[in-house]
Amino acid sequence: MIVALTGTPGTGKTTVCGIIREHSQYRKQYSIIDLNKLVLGEKLYTGKDAARDTYEADMDKLEERVKQGISQLPHGMDVIMEGHLSHLLPADAIIVLRAHPLALRKRLGKRKDYSFAKVKENADAEALDVILVESAERNKNVFEINTTDMNSLAVVKSVVLIIESLKQGKIPEEYLPGKINWIEQVGIE
Ligand SMILES: Nc1ncnc2c1ncn2[C@@H]1O[C@H](COP(=O)(O)OP(=O)(O)OP(=O)(O)O)[C@@H](O)[C@H]1O
Ligand SMILES: [Mg+2]
Repeated sequence: MIVALTGTPGTGKTTVCGIIREHSQYRKQYSIIDLNKLVLGEKLYTGKDAARDTYEADMDKLEERVKQGISQLPHGMDVIMEGHLSHLLPADAIIVLRAHPLALRKRLGKRKDYSFAKVKENADAEALDVILVESAERNKNVFEINTTDMNSLAVVKSVVLIIESLKQGKIPEEYLPGKINWIEQVGIE
């Protein structure tokens, strides 16, 4: 199964994947593809958006590169594509990590390379469900995890539960989208 693990920057994707990599049992089952690392390391971008201080990923090249990587994996391994663009690539399911915009501001505020404007832009995108909407436009199997009051190990367990349920043909109802409403947090200073 190929899963996209996405979410607004700061929702904890890399942290979750770090735990999966360190866990001997999980590591055997789930192969993680770090999309940010691929885009930057292999220069799979078309340019830099100076105003927003982000690279514009070349999605066609990234998709080709990911396909090639997956084709070399041992049979039977599940793939977790990790990154805030992962939901734009073909996948069997998309898991969106969510965090309350105020919690996100706190998390991103600690990043030295994030300006105040960039923190705010991401908090607003989270409040507006931007990634969830983009995901739902592309895939029928979309799930979300509200990480706000969860520690990262609990988030890992939720990710694993969603993937294993889907492999058994079950819908993990608890994680179906629609329970989160942070619209009142848009534009808060
Ligand atoms: N469940 C959590 N609860 C509290 N803090 C968390 C949680 N998960 C991650 N964090 C913290 O939030 C920050 C961002 O986490 P992380 O780098 O994993 O996010 P990300 O989704 O990978 O972001 P990006 O898209 O920018 O790579 C880190 O400081 C991390 O320690
Ligand atoms: Mg990350």
